[in-house]
Amino acid sequence: MKRARIIGTGSYLPEKVLSNTDLEKMVDTNDEWILSRTGIKERRIAADDETTSTLATKAAQRALEMAGVTPDQIDLLIVATITGDFPWPSTACLVQDQIGAKNAAAWDVSAACSGFVYALSSASKFLETGAATRALVIGAEVLSRIIDWEDRNTCILFGDGAGAVVLEAHEGESGILSSHLHADGADWKLLYQPGFGSRHPASISGIEERLPYLKMEGNEVFKIAVRSMYDVAIEALTANGLTSRDVHLLFPHQANKRILEAVRKRLELRPEQLYSMVERCGNTSGASIPLALDEANRNGQIKEGDIVVFDAFGGGFTWGAIPVRW
Ligand code: UT7
Repeated sequence: MKRARIIGTGSYLPEKVLSNTDLEKMVDTNDEWILSRTGIKERRIAADDETTSTLATKAAQRALEMAGVTPDQIDLLIVATITGDFPWPSTACLVQDQIGAKNAAAWDVSAACSGFVYALSSASKFLETGAATRALVIGAEVLSRIIDWEDRNTCILFGDGAGAVVLEAHEGESGILSSHLHADGADWKLLYQPGFGSRHPASISGIEERLPYLKMEGNEVFKIAVRSMYDVAIEALTANGLTSRDVHLLFPHQANKRILEAVRKRLELRPEQLYSMVERCGNTSGASIPLALDEANRNGQIKEGDIVVFDAFGGGFTWGAIPVRW
């Protein structure tokens, strides 16, 4: 069977930095609380003229350049996002146009913070079965536009950014080894954006009730996230006859330093086996794993044959893990 292997990575972070000290001037919080509860020091915020598709396009172009692939050689383009430029058309179609990937089918995946893992899994199946040969998978978010900047429980956590990978089908040992996806819609209310969809269509009263903004029961989400990310990482390793000792780098969804540490300890990974940039970017939802992957890749921290594992949890709830032989 063919495998989908990653032949290029790219990312983009907006220039504007929002520090914990900046947040102290906006809501009743402080650097010490944010750092001790989340490990986050700063996050990036998109400029007024930037949107999810423009961030995604920059990350995609960098990934294509590394891969040595031209946009017209891409036949599949998937964007994982919950903050698309529009409810529709998809952000993937906008990116397809902006990069000139005229031969690519394009669509978005909505799986919140697990979006990149869901999108990567979907793309890999097309490549493994021969339905596509080269794919671009992007995680991109401008969460700053759906954050309630008056809610200290959530506004300190999130940031904007985009990450991308180019995948190619090949015969060989390297590439995506398997993918393990799960969902449980029963707890959707613990993390969601109430407005404006078909349940709460656009209305002035909805704005007054702050419906267009993200809502989260952080404490509950925290516990379920740790358990689910641990369980699915073990499931993914076991399915491939691997153990924690075989993992070169774990790329967990970068939600909160305490979540990452809890997962790492349960998996009995050494600190250097976990890749974290949450302190510099906060939680960038679907963008967090490809952002971290690109940073590690460009720093030369992954070499041929290494096992890396993507491990995500997010709204829905959705969760999933993908082990990759580099
Ligand atoms: O992307 C995947 C989904 N998201 C996540 O994975 C996030 C999961 N959850 C979390 O990261 C954490 O639950 C938070 C960081 C959101 C909150 O940390 P916590 O340790 O669970 O705090 P808490 O919600 O239990 O709040 C503790 C106290 C509360 O005060 P009282 O009720 O004890 O007086 C909060 O009102 O801290 C208060 N608080 C704050 N204080 C200062 C909440 N937010 C803030 C703040 N600054 N920004």
